[in-house]
Amino acid sequence: MMGSHSFAPGSSALAVLACVLTVAVICDGGTTSPFVRKIWPSVDMPFDSDVFAAPPGYNAPQQVHITQGDHVGKGVIVSWVTPSEPGSKRVHYWSEKTGKKKHSEDTVVTTYKYYNYTSGYIHHCTIKGLEPDTKYHYIVGSEHVRRQFWFVTPPEVGPDVPYTFGLIGDLGQTHDSNVTLTHYQQNPYNPKSVLFVGDLSYADDHPLHNNLRWDSWGRFIERSVAYQHWIWVAGNHEIDYCPEIGEYTPFKPYLHRYEVPYRESNSTSPLWYSIKRASAYIIVLSSYSAYAIYTPQYTWLQEELPKVNRSETPWLIVLMHTPWYNSYDYHYMEGESMRVVFEPWFVQHKVDVVFAGHVHAYERNERISNVVYNITNGLATPVSDPNAPVYITIGDGGNIEGLAKNMTEPQPEYSAYREASFGHAIFDIKNRTHAYYSWNRNQDGIATEADSLWFRNRYWDPVKE
Ligand SMILES: [Fe+2]
Repeated sequence: MMGSHSFAPGSSALAVLACVLTVAVICDGGTTSPFVRKIWPSVDMPFDSDVFAAPPGYNAPQQVHITQGDHVGKGVIVSWVTPSEPGSKRVHYWSEKTGKKKHSEDTVVTTYKYYNYTSGYIHHCTIKGLEPDTKYHYIVGSEHVRRQFWFVTPPEVGPDVPYTFGLIGDLGQTHDSNVTLTHYQQNPYNPKSVLFVGDLSYADDHPLHNNLRWDSWGRFIERSVAYQHWIWVAGNHEIDYCPEIGEYTPFKPYLHRYEVPYRESNSTSPLWYSIKRASAYIIVLSSYSAYAIYTPQYTWLQEELPKVNRSETPWLIVLMHTPWYNSYDYHYMEGESMRVVFEPWFVQHKVDVVFAGHVHAYERNERISNVVYNITNGLATPVSDPNAPVYITIGDGGNIEGLAKNMTEPQPEYSAYREASFGHAIFDIKNRTHAYYSWNRNQDGIATEADSLWFRNRYWDPVKE
């Protein structure tokens, strides 16, 4: 807990008690989990692993993935890759309620080259006008091989609509990544979609940014993302900027492969955008795009935050890759410049929670802010702030770079719980006032929560959790 309790003036006994309590909380910056973890060596699973197997048949669609296709959840973007030729542009789909067959051809097919790699044919098909809370089946492919999947559309947007999000970050494609994804899929809360906080394939950790690792990653996650929406955030491993081999276009593989509905929120870049989903308003930011005053991202966010109607979407969630508050030795203060620019807005607009990745471990911070510091006043210590978001680092998907184990000691007051384990989390919205959050470390059974918190909504129920 933060050491910012206040006490009414009164007896000296109370004053003494206050001192004792204050000393106690100052000494206790939160919990550093002593959990002893065994981990696999952090190596990517070999290309011939079963999780990377390409579907059989000539030009079979692979790497099938879906994400939200409009601002409110009545659209879906279906994406897939065909290896040999473009093939069919059509997505055939029907709702389980009506069974009425439809097809969409609103498909963009793209390819790209990266050094000596040439991609397959990457399809993005946007389907709109879907019924809420409805199971749809869909088919991609052509006469050679057709593959069928399904998804459930999110419920109609509304203030008390329950909805369960999953949270995964920095996943990569190691054995640990596979455990994380399996645990996520078996989570007993049955999360409906993933908020993915950046760093997808880690292809760039291989020589020449071997883009075959982008393909294998797409096949690896298909078992989840072909059936439920993953909401994308770009991390540093999506930049793929590599002048040494003549690759000068940042985010080239990522932007070709993962389409998002950024225009629907008047964004000018797929790297920052927003969606509504059930009772949540989700804002995606780019830690690796300009965000200082007058830049497009700054201007967009400035106009975006006042649009959030908490009577319609009580839960305001922000996703980014680089954490602003972090007490590990890794990437320490890398988020500081963005924090300085945007944090006053987050407090003003009462953001409920910020999820970030980047640090390959887990950390939940208190509701804190550091908005009074102005260089000359010396007030550089974050303070407890009921209007501030809870900051959570969930960069613990299990990628090739291994765990971040070294922490700042002693644990800072702003850090509530930290543990160097891989895992995933869920954010389970019950209604406009309450959401249950829990984090699961990979080494435990799938139903074992290592950290959890009942969130109280900042707009409707802004009491201390
Ligand atoms: Fe990262």
